[in-house]
Amino acid sequence: MARIRFENVTKYYGSVLAVDNLNLEIRDKEFVVLLGPSGCGKTTTLNMIAGLEELTDGDIWFDDEIVNFMPPHKRDVAMVFQSYALYPHKSVYENIAFGLAMRKYPKAEIDKRVRDAAMRLHIDHLLDRRPNQLSGGQRQRVALGRAMVRQPAVFLMDEPLSNLDAALRVSMRAEIKELHQTMQTTFVYVTHDQAEALTLADRIVVMNDGIVQQVGPPDEIYERPRNMFVASFLGNPPINYLHGELIESGQRMAFRRGALTLSLNDEASAKLSGQEGRKAILGIRPEDVDDRSKPSEGGAIDGHVNFVMPIGSDQYLNMKLAGEELFFRVGKETRHQNGEEVTLAANLARLHLFDPESRESLLWQEGAPS
Ligand SMILES: Nc1ncnc2c1ncn2[C@@H]1O[C@H](COP(=O)(O)OP(=O)(O)OP(=O)(O)O)[C@@H](O)[C@H]1O
Ligand SMILES: [Mg+2]
Repeated sequence: MARIRFENVTKYYGSVLAVDNLNLEIRDKEFVVLLGPSGCGKTTTLNMIAGLEELTDGDIWFDDEIVNFMPPHKRDVAMVFQSYALYPHKSVYENIAFGLAMRKYPKAEIDKRVRDAAMRLHIDHLLDRRPNQLSGGQRQRVALGRAMVRQPAVFLMDEPLSNLDAALRVSMRAEIKELHQTMQTTFVYVTHDQAEALTLADRIVVMNDGIVQQVGPPDEIYERPRNMFVASFLGNPPINYLHGELIESGQRMAFRRGALTLSLNDEASAKLSGQEGRKAILGIRPEDVDDRSKPSEGGAIDGHVNFVMPIGSDQYLNMKLAGEELFFRVGKETRHQNGEEVTLAANLARLHLFDPESRESLLWQEGAPS
């Protein structure tokens, strides 16, 4: 069993604050993804779990034990490093087998595990080569194999797919997901790729500047972002923003910017009632419109199509709307034209609203399940 708990954990490198008062519980057998931009403290957090970095302040617990001073080899963790440090003079086979050989596993057992891992990672034809005879993506998979064969209590992975091409990355993602299911251990996985986080995680921890921004299951992070950083970091193309204000429209609250007025749904309207005149930033994701159904009351978006970008499955519309350029994604049943005037139906249940000063969501509620 391996439950990991961070309690007020802070890490400074000299005067650089890398992780700022982290509080987080990772459940036994959970797949947690640390997601955030370069330099936000992901590797530092992982290294502290592995015991490779000392904490400046706070405690890390494994189950009911504080492990702040426990050396790495006693922690029963396997780690795939961002800079996959392989042994240059050993073959791929020996690199993968190394941890097991050190622990004196029987040869037959080692052989079975190495070949099984190599096959899953599609590197079984490379077992005799040395690392300098491999591509970056192949080396990365050797590093993954080396950790996979260990079957540890905690599996730590630092951007393990960053050097793979797009197709291989998708198939390796599936392998990692399956690996988690078969190994039944706790996974902590670091990436700056939001698609990877959304597909792999039981829960995502979004970080920025060493500070946790939001923790929750992928759907919740995507659909109910707590602030504009989280809203922007997930989603491709990114969420659109429009500065405007709240107004009262009929029986409910609405967002207005120039000629555009969008009604809020019951829940949002109730939450923001009485706040007419308040400045707000509307967030609307490209996919949360529809060009084929009739807009509901207060749900019409009229705009000018600057240009259409077909992407195979769908089409993107770059639109001029209330003086801003926004991106929307619609199906391809209706062929749109550059220069066309269109009316889109907004999905009013999916509008986001933020405070322009704090950049926090006006709709997010403390204590929502995570
Ligand atoms: N050994 C070190 N000495 C000084 N500063 C460091 C050291 N290691 C990391 N940092 C700083 O700590 C912060 C967090 O670094 P970290 O490596 O954890 O980021 P990261 O989220 O893993 O980024 P990336 O996505 O680029 O790998 C950064 O500002 C980084 O410059
Ligand atoms: Mg890193």
